[in-house]
Amino acid sequence: MTQNWHQNMNENVTEELIPSLDKSTDEVAWDLYRKAIRFGTWDPAAIDLTQDKVDFESLDEDLKGYLIHFCTGFLDAEENVALKFCPWIMLGSSTEQQAFLSTQLLDEFKHTEFFLRYFKEVLGRERIPGVKNIVQQKLDERVKKMLAALEQSEEEREAVLVEGLTHYQGIIEGVQAMSGYDVFEAVFGSKGLFPGLKEGFSRIKEDEGRHVGFGLRMLKLFARNPEHAKRIRALYDEYLPHILVRYDQPVIVDGREYPTPPEVKGRERLIKMFERRLKDIFGTPVSV
Ligand SMILES: [Fe+2]
Ligand SMILES: [Fe+2]
Repeated sequence: MTQNWHQNMNENVTEELIPSLDKSTDEVAWDLYRKAIRFGTWDPAAIDLTQDKVDFESLDEDLKGYLIHFCTGFLDAEENVALKFCPWIMLGSSTEQQAFLSTQLLDEFKHTEFFLRYFKEVLGRERIPGVKNIVQQKLDERVKKMLAALEQSEEEREAVLVEGLTHYQGIIEGVQAMSGYDVFEAVFGSKGLFPGLKEGFSRIKEDEGRHVGFGLRMLKLFARNPEHAKRIRALYDEYLPHILVRYDQPVIVDGREYPTPPEVKGRERLIKMFERRLKDIFGTPVSV
């Protein structure tokens, strides 16, 4: 069971990504908590980055610039979500849900650690400033709303949680991060480059399978309530232009602009993932 589950994460099979609706949310949360305890034990410090350093040194200048920009996007995002995740745990409505979400907090710090290490040991420099990600910036106001909701009615709390899950698990993890793994694979991984980064992404993707699986299942259940369904869809639509900025922006590193490799196809990948997530939640094909 667990072995298959891991394989399915890697194949990104959506049906397998979302845990069954037959079990209660608390049972699912507890299963995922146990999975995180037993299998989410990889160590970001243990991945061998020796070949990555060699690959980076022999990479052509344009791709070097692209990789620095790409990895900055990931490091910024992982760090930002790690620093801001506590309200999602606090709004969990049971011990089981909070227990699972607490494993997600540690996972996000591990992902951050992996990319900090990558900059230090492979790219040999600091991340660059100014890689735009408006969806991430919006977490500041999201966190304020979620913390305020802790003092509000049950109904208000639930509405705010639905938006929080849509923003974070549904969009940041479910659309942006998932598209990012595919970009890496298309530009570098499929050419046998950067085996350490490939392994890091593969471990991160397993963790994200638990995070996104839980989040999408919650959203699927919440979407049965028409008010929540409206909320979820409105947020996806509102954020779509911000989501697309991620790969549409010029790649500028240390004042020099680098071309985006043709394999990136960022807009195409993001829109496809966006539609897939809406289908996961609402069950019917949706086009944007
Ligand atoms: Fe992460
Ligand atoms: Fe995550």
